Amino acid sequence: MFLKFTRLSIIVCLMFGGLNALNEPLKSERLVYEEELLKKVIRMELKMEQMEREMLQTQDKMINTLQNLTSEIENKTAELKLVEERVSVPMVAFNAHTLADYSLDTNQILIFQHTYLNEGNAYDNVIGLFTAPVAGLYMFSVHSCNWAGRGFYYYIIVDNNIIAKSTKFNNVQPDCASVVTFTKLETDQRVWVRCASGSSSSQLTDSTYRLSTFSGALLHG
Ligand SMILES: *[C@@H]1O[C@H](CO)[C@@H](O)[C@H](O)[C@H]1NC(C)=O
Ligand SMILES: *[C@@H]1O[C@H](CO)[C@@H](O)[C@H](O)[C@H]1NC(C)=O
Repeated sequence: MFLKFTRLSIIVCLMFGGLNALNEPLKSERLVYEEELLKKVIRMELKMEQMEREMLQTQDKMINTLQNLTSEIENKTAELKLVEERVSVPMVAFNAHTLADYSLDTNQILIFQHTYLNEGNAYDNVIGLFTAPVAGLYMFSVHSCNWAGRGFYYYIIVDNNIIAKSTKFNNVQPDCASVVTFTKLETDQRVWVRCASGSSSSQLTDSTYRLSTFSGALLHG
């Protein structure tokens, strides 16, 4: 009896087991598979979102780096241009003394015959004119020493335009005074010193202790 029952159970089990094997396990395997697939898809989506974030961060960083590099290059280019300009500006400076004539007429150009310094040869000591070899900011100075009791009146001129005026007068003893001025010049503009009011007797005087001079320099090209 027991054996019979067992045999029947086995048959039933086999029968239903067989059915189960055909249906139920198939269903759950598919579910598991689909579940795993879903999990995989979610994981991939999360990963892709993270990758996208990282890519955007990397992109931002690259753009920032590029902007920094561009700014640096622009700055260096500007610096280089300044250095090039500075290097290409010639040295221009003169310091001239000893007048060709100490008794000056009105409008007469003062000619300083000798130069202590004439870098760039821009001062012509024969005609008394300085000619700007390059455009730029220049400084000019006149130092004048006159006799006591005689006035000396003069201008610094740029191409017939007055850029500085001065008067020198001392009733007691010969002495000196200076005028300094700054001007922007274009290439080939000319600068000179002109007597503003003439006299038949000599107004200026040089000695061991005083010397009239005309000097100038290019400060910035
Ligand atoms: C770009 O320059 C800024 C300011 O100088 C700085 O704060 C930033 O860290 C730089 N970025 C990179 C990526 O070098
Ligand atoms: C470039 O120059 C500008 C202005 O002088 C300055 O603000 C900037 O920080 C400089 N950039 C670099 C990268 O040196």
